[in-house]
Amino acid sequence: MPADESAMRALVDALEEPALIVEGLTISYANGGAKSLLGAGIEGRDVRLAIRHPDALEHILTGRSAEVDVTGIGEVGRPWRVVIRDLGRGAAFVRMIDRSGTVSAEKMRIDFVANASHELRTPFSTIIGYAETLADESGVDAELRGKFVQTIRDEAGRMLRIIEDLMSLSRIQADRFVVPHETVDIAAVIRTAVANTAHVKGSGNCEFVIALPDELPPVQGDRGQLIQLFDNLLSNAARYGCHKPKSKVEVTAGTDGRWVTLTVTDHGPGIARVHVPRLTERFYRVDEARSRGSGGTGLGLAIVKHIVERHKGLLEIKSEVGKGTSVIVRIPTGRPRAS
Ligand SMILES: Nc1ncnc2c1ncn2[C@@H]1O[C@H](COP(=O)(O)OP(=O)(O)OP(=O)(O)O)[C@@H](O)[C@H]1O
Ligand SMILES: [Mg+2]
Repeated sequence: MPADESAMRALVDALEEPALIVEGLTISYANGGAKSLLGAGIEGRDVRLAIRHPDALEHILTGRSAEVDVTGIGEVGRPWRVVIRDLGRGAAFVRMIDRSGTVSAEKMRIDFVANASHELRTPFSTIIGYAETLADESGVDAELRGKFVQTIRDEAGRMLRIIEDLMSLSRIQADRFVVPHETVDIAAVIRTAVANTAHVKGSGNCEFVIALPDELPPVQGDRGQLIQLFDNLLSNAARYGCHKPKSKVEVTAGTDGRWVTLTVTDHGPGIARVHVPRLTERFYRVDEARSRGSGGTGLGLAIVKHIVERHKGLLEIKSEVGKGTSVIVRIPTGRPRAS
């Protein structure tokens, strides 16, 4: 091995990613990451047997410095950046950087932009369509004109809500490492959110039953965000769970000293099991037509998830078709568990 051999090994060992030194066709040294990726006994072996990826091998065997993106080393489909550095005298240093995280983050960004554009384009097209019809003076009577104007208002309102929700989501995400510091009275938060829900379509059928213990410890949190969290959960219960008059929506809270556990339960149609893990994805809706019809943007539960994460809490959605849905939120009190 060229240069100072033990210093070179120490450097290779210090890397978290799989890294090797190849001399000629032989792997002369491999760190722990490389051994767990390519096999414990790769030192001393022919590099062509250890790395069977033609593109990566081609670059490694030339021994010239290069960087190449390949997929499939170790595991089918896994993306890697292979960095090769010429060490002189026929030796090369090879480092493999796992790009799965970057690739999936890129995919998420692309999907998000595509979804957001689609969501905004739908109301936008409707507005343009109706505006053009109105601009054409002939044949639109006063009653129809009134309906068209109302549709334009509704669709513009929907666009505004999507934009406000997206801005709110990015603010919450931007603050995700900022520890919320207010001392929040959860009972007051629940009461405020129940009052806010009175404006939601469908809430006229809801009967909110609030069951709180006499003494609920305050949580360290962001009051505005916790109200937003309950606004979203209660408006979902009202929209999707209160089709019949006098439908009960239960809001309960409890504590074990360490966590405050908050539950919103409705007795509506419930959600099929396949949908539950995807509910907190942005723009995910079970019944698109129903959600849009009631003014939903599909961002409510994504916002809930991020608020819970910022509070270092836990979110659980339990639902049974035909029976109803419970959303359970646990927020730490900031106190050690009561003994
Ligand atoms: N309590 C519930 N009962 C049945 N379905 C629900 C319930 N809560 C949510 N859902 C389903 O989950 C989907 C996602 O909910 P989410 O709150 O994220 O979006 P939304 O209600 O459609 O729009 P908004 O952004 O206005 O809240 C809803 O479209 C609905 O299909
Ligand atoms: Mg919602």
